Amino acid sequence: MSVLIKGGRVLTAADDYVGDVYVEDERISLIGESLDVQADKVIDAAGKYVLPGAVDPHTHLDMPFGGTVTVDDVESGQTAAAFGGTTCHVDFVIQPPGSTFAAALEDWKSKANGKQVIDMGYHMAVTDLKEGGTLEDLAALPDEGVTSYKLFMAYKGALMVDDETLFRTMQVAAETGALVMVHAENGDAIDVLVKEALAAGHTEPKYHALTRPPETEGEATNRAIQLSRVAGSPLYVVHVSCAEAVEPIAIAREKGWDVWGETCTQYFFVDYTFLERPDFEGAKYVYTPPPRDKANQDVLWNAVRTDVLSVVSTDHCAFLWDGQKTMGKDDFSKIPNGGPGLENRLQMIHEFGVRAGRISLNRMVELLATAPAKLFGLYPRKGTVAVGSDADMVVFDPEKKVTISAATHHSKSDYNLYEGTEVTGSPEVVLLRGHVLVEDGELVASPGVGQFVARARFGEELKAQTALA
Ligand code: URP
Ligand code: ZN
Ligand code: ZN
Repeated sequence: MSVLIKGGRVLTAADDYVGDVYVEDERISLIGESLDVQADKVIDAAGKYVLPGAVDPHTHLDMPFGGTVTVDDVESGQTAAAFGGTTCHVDFVIQPPGSTFAAALEDWKSKANGKQVIDMGYHMAVTDLKEGGTLEDLAALPDEGVTSYKLFMAYKGALMVDDETLFRTMQVAAETGALVMVHAENGDAIDVLVKEALAAGHTEPKYHALTRPPETEGEATNRAIQLSRVAGSPLYVVHVSCAEAVEPIAIAREKGWDVWGETCTQYFFVDYTFLERPDFEGAKYVYTPPPRDKANQDVLWNAVRTDVLSVVSTDHCAFLWDGQKTMGKDDFSKIPNGGPGLENRLQMIHEFGVRAGRISLNRMVELLATAPAKLFGLYPRKGTVAVGSDADMVVFDPEKKVTISAATHHSKSDYNLYEGTEVTGSPEVVLLRGHVLVEDGELVASPGVGQFVARARFGEELKAQTALA
């Protein structure tokens, strides 16, 4: 199947030009001005942007967590992603304590089997190096295309690891060429604060934030940075939410250390006051780290503009408000942590980043596609529009007006973090390896079109599957 995308404004992290893009055998084979070629399908992109498919390196689909399971499985989560212009994501396999990494990976792959709408890779979340996981098995994961290890420094009694586990994993990563990712919060201090709050009868959603002060995020971020220096591993700090965590990352990057950070869409738009909404509505915004004081939003915009933070992900971890979030009606610590977001990242960052004059179009592409592809061993197959790259593209209509709502989104969640927000600019056609996924507001492709991608090691390129003829 060949596709010709005609006359669009092609945008990459570096380029901005009007041209035609020709796709053959799932990859981009030709880019030029007024290409004289025949194609099975021609898409008129005049007046539209042609963007690389966005890459989301932080999602939780079909994941047991907080006494329940995230409501979006691979099919519904990836359908939401496709409508939002995301064509590849990296999901977290969680090693159940006592289980091997191989068994956990197998379990996650079987949950995805036949349901995949977009391409995907996996990170391995290490929870236990004593009973189930061995250092040797951890070291073998990059050979399977799982080239990043994630550690939770919080969620005591559940996913949290001690510093020994964190440090040993960093040492393995330094040897194997994997990237270490951390959820950076001081889980021990938070556990004390949560117990104190509950003992004082403080049960409402806002105590989720009040028991996780920004200093606990700053402390753990700095600890992870310093330990990664000792171990000699690269470090990626996920879901940075506040100035206290931005500062140590800025210092590390200023020094030229191998440290990167991401923030997530919601931290630009949802602040602490959302947690105070009446009738338990605040529970919709219980995710971790929590929504912070509004002043942090400018700090984050500045950090993504200046490359102190290099990626904007979603941390899509969707639950129902009615039936799942309500598990914590009488105790904020029982509200499952997480929120939906896979579908709206591009729309929101385009509206409030680009259209509001905070970042350029090129920087938006870099934050949402190119940088995550490079950091997570997917580039140049993913994350750019170039000859030889997978034909993952978004024809984006910069004039289309949309009101974001749970009534029209594709996640199974019964609420949307950005309910009622009006944006101008939305994906019109979305392609995965040349297959049209979304067109005319409909999902055109069938589940099964998406594939597992074995990622390259940190700092290495992911070559095209076969050489161009
Ligand atoms: O609240 C969140 N972020 N839930 C997902 C798990 C995590 O910490 O990323
Ligand atoms: Zn986390
Ligand atoms: Zn997460």
